[in-house]
Amino acid sequence: MLDLGRQPSANRFLARADIAREFMFRLAIGMCHSCTMVQLIEDVPEEIRYHDGYRYRASGSATHRRHFARVARELLATELAGPNPFIVEIGCNDGVMLETIARAGVRHLGVDPAKEVTELARERGVNVLDAFFGDSVAEGIRAEHGSADVIFGANTVCHIAYQDSLLRGVDTLLGPDGVFVFEEPYLGTVISQMAFDQIYDEHVYYFTARSVQQMAQRYGFELVDVGRSPLHGGEIRYTLTRPGRRRPSPAVGELLADERHRGLADPVTFQRFADAVAKIRDDLLTLLRDLRDRGSTVVGYGAPGKTATVTNYCGIGPELVPFVVDSTPAKQGLLVPGSHLPVRPPQAFTTANPDYALLFAWNHADEIMAKEQAFSRRGKWIRYVPDVRVG
Ligand code: TMP
Repeated sequence: MLDLGRQPSANRFLARADIAREFMFRLAIGMCHSCTMVQLIEDVPEEIRYHDGYRYRASGSATHRRHFARVARELLATELAGPNPFIVEIGCNDGVMLETIARAGVRHLGVDPAKEVTELARERGVNVLDAFFGDSVAEGIRAEHGSADVIFGANTVCHIAYQDSLLRGVDTLLGPDGVFVFEEPYLGTVISQMAFDQIYDEHVYYFTARSVQQMAQRYGFELVDVGRSPLHGGEIRYTLTRPGRRRPSPAVGELLADERHRGLADPVTFQRFADAVAKIRDDLLTLLRDLRDRGSTVVGYGAPGKTATVTNYCGIGPELVPFVVDSTPAKQGLLVPGSHLPVRPPQAFTTANPDYALLFAWNHADEIMAKEQAFSRRGKWIRYVPDVRVG
C-alpha cells in the first residue's frame, strides 16, 4: 500500500554518541487479502521498541489525563461494578488510566515491559508486572489473581505483532462474561486525515471494524461494540466478548457499512492515499526549503513518535528544522530518531522566537494553541495533515 522507506524505531530517542549504532528498518504497510488487516510488512522486534529507555509517557497531555480518568470511571460504573472485580491493562505505561482504578481500591494489574515508565505508575499506587503480555504471562496472572472482568488496552493492542499469543492470552485470562476493550488508531482516520505519520514501527496493525471482527472470530470472540475516542486524531474503541454473551450494538453494523461505503479494504483507496502522501512530502519540502532560502526560522513543535515518520520520509534534517521542543523531560537533550533533530524543552521555543512552528503534535493542536497564543499573534503555524498549510 505505502512504502515510507528506511526508518528508525520512532520512540528510540538517542544521544549523538549512539548515532552510528542506530537501528533502521523498512517501514511499509500492506493489507492481508483474506482478513483485510492492514499491517507492517516488516516488524521491529519488541525488545527494540519497548525497553528501559522507552520515552513515551501516556500522561503527556491534559487531554490524555482527562480522557483516561473518564474511561476508568466508566469502567468502574459498569464492567467493574460487580463483587471483587479485577482489571488487567495491557501496556499501562505511566498508569494514566489505572491510577483512577487504584484510587477506587479495585483489584488491578498493569502489564508493561518498559521499566522506566512503569516506575511512574508504581509511584501513583498502580500494581505493575514488567512483562510483555502473551499467553504464558496470562496463565501466570490467572493462577495468581483469578480471571479478569476487564482486559483493557489503549494504543497497545495494535502494537503487538504476535496476535496468536495475545488473543490466546486474553482467552486464558478473561472470565466467561468478561470484556476485552481496546482503543487504537483507526485506519479510517489515518486515511481521511492523510495521517501517514501514524504509521511507525510501534503501530504494527491498522485496525478497522472489519479486520477486528475477523480477528475476534478467528480466536473465538465476538465484536459486540465500537465507539469513537478522540485521542490521536480519532480512534475506535472495540469491545470483544465470548460469542453470544451480549447482543452486538447497532454501532458495529453501522461502522462496517460505513467502511464498505468508504472502500477501506479497496486497493484504489490505498493508491489515492499513497499519492496524497507523496504530494504532502513534496509540498512540505518545497515550503521548508523556500523558508530557509528566505532566511526565515522554523522550529518543530512536539516530538511524538509521528515526528520520526514525517521527518525521515520527507528528508527533513536540522538544516531545515534546527530543533524541536517537547514537554517530555525524558526526550529533552536527545535527538529525534533517524532525522536527528535535537529535542529541547518548551522554553527554547520562546527564546528562539521563530518565524514559523512546524506542528508535529497536531493531535494536541487545541491544547497547544491555547498555550501558545503569544506566538500565534506574531508567528505562523505549519501543518502537514491532511495537507500542507501555513496559517
Ligand atoms: P502523543 O501524540 O503521542 O501523545 O505525543 C505528543 C507529544 O507532544 C509528547 O511528546 C508531548 C508533546 N507535547 C508538547 O510538547 N507540548 C504540549 O503542549 C503537548 C500537549 C504535547
